[in-house]
Amino acid sequence: MKVLVVGSGGREHSLCWAIAKSPKCKKLFCAPGNAGIAQVAECVDIGAEDVAGIVTFATEKKIDFVVVGPEAPLVAGLVDRLEKAGILAFGPNARAAVLEGSKGFMKDLCAKYDIPTGAYDRFDEPDAAKDYIHRHGAPIVVKADGLAAGKGVILCRNDNEAFAAIDHVMIERAFGDAGDEVVIEDFLEGEEASFFALVDGKRAVPLVSAQDHKAAYDGDEGPNTGGMGAYTPAPVITKAMTKTIMDTIITPTIEAMAAEDRPYKGVLYVGLMITDKGPQVLEYNVRFGDPECQPLMMRIKSDFLEALVACAKGQLNKVKLKWHDDVALIVVMATNGYPGFYKKGSEIKGLDKANAVDDVVVFHAGTTADGNKILADGGRVLGVTGRGATVAEAQKRTYKAVDKIKWPEGFCRRDIGWRAINR
Ligand code: GLY
Repeated sequence: MKVLVVGSGGREHSLCWAIAKSPKCKKLFCAPGNAGIAQVAECVDIGAEDVAGIVTFATEKKIDFVVVGPEAPLVAGLVDRLEKAGILAFGPNARAAVLEGSKGFMKDLCAKYDIPTGAYDRFDEPDAAKDYIHRHGAPIVVKADGLAAGKGVILCRNDNEAFAAIDHVMIERAFGDAGDEVVIEDFLEGEEASFFALVDGKRAVPLVSAQDHKAAYDGDEGPNTGGMGAYTPAPVITKAMTKTIMDTIITPTIEAMAAEDRPYKGVLYVGLMITDKGPQVLEYNVRFGDPECQPLMMRIKSDFLEALVACAKGQLNKVKLKWHDDVALIVVMATNGYPGFYKKGSEIKGLDKANAVDDVVVFHAGTTADGNKILADGGRVLGVTGRGATVAEAQKRTYKAVDKIKWPEGFCRRDIGWRAINR
């Protein structure tokens, strides 16, 4: 089978790494990929959002199966275009990807089908949004309706922060058209976790749970990032909790999307708050989490390409996934300055030594090659991922590998997994 993975981050490196292990994979391409992905796939210089370019490439190369990593091309209709060209693709079509593409759609769906989520309202006019904040008071959450590269959710501790968030999104238009509308919702108390399931339009196969660390610095301090580390499984998601999540959230969501004539296919990643009243949906994502995907791929024992193909064909009834029972944990290494301004082009050394640590893989998130040198080419640059019998063991092994990487221009958190270890 000829496979094309779309994307260039750590998520896509780990997907390529897992897919390349499948005996069914005869040739693997990645568009556009990165220096790490180039070690397992042939990288082609086509941007992940270049829908027309990807469809042309896939057609010309007679690609059998396309796996789409990031949300933007899904929301833009890449899967629709591939299917029209007769190419099997993993991921939702544009009508279903609206689950991540519009926060307002997602909240209305939950309300209509009784899927547990925080109380909310939607506004396309800033004064009305501020009036709602006056009446409800902080803490409160302001969300840009559309895609905002993970930056569109603003947690507001007091009313002034909430008014400023409305100005930022709707008047300063920090996220462009994504801020034409906002959702304002209750601030939920509890422990955050992520849950992933493969969905084939009608049925779901649960994957595993994970927790990530979004804040830039130790102790979960500092500005929010795309994620500075993660581990799977999440101890808060017990077997009983998994059943509750499947019964009250995943299955009703699949049924709701089918009833709305938007059958959902692909991975469904639900951001949850585990509250005193049970799990509540914070958000849906229509793709794997990044960095959560990397430890997830380290734990999967089954042929993951087979599972993705079955999912895309609507045949998840044929899939029974096997997992390593242990824990996998990722530490993200980022360029100094991230998530603010940072410089590209610094050299990273010691990657071979880090990769040589038992049960560790260094996934590349933003790198480029210059001859034999590996250079940083983004904010989040590497994801050092290790397995162990416990979170503490996985953490120790992962930091042992991190310490072999020589990159003065980069930093990482030193406490990934602390919440699970302190439980
Ligand atoms: N790690 C958060 C995300 O992928 O959205």
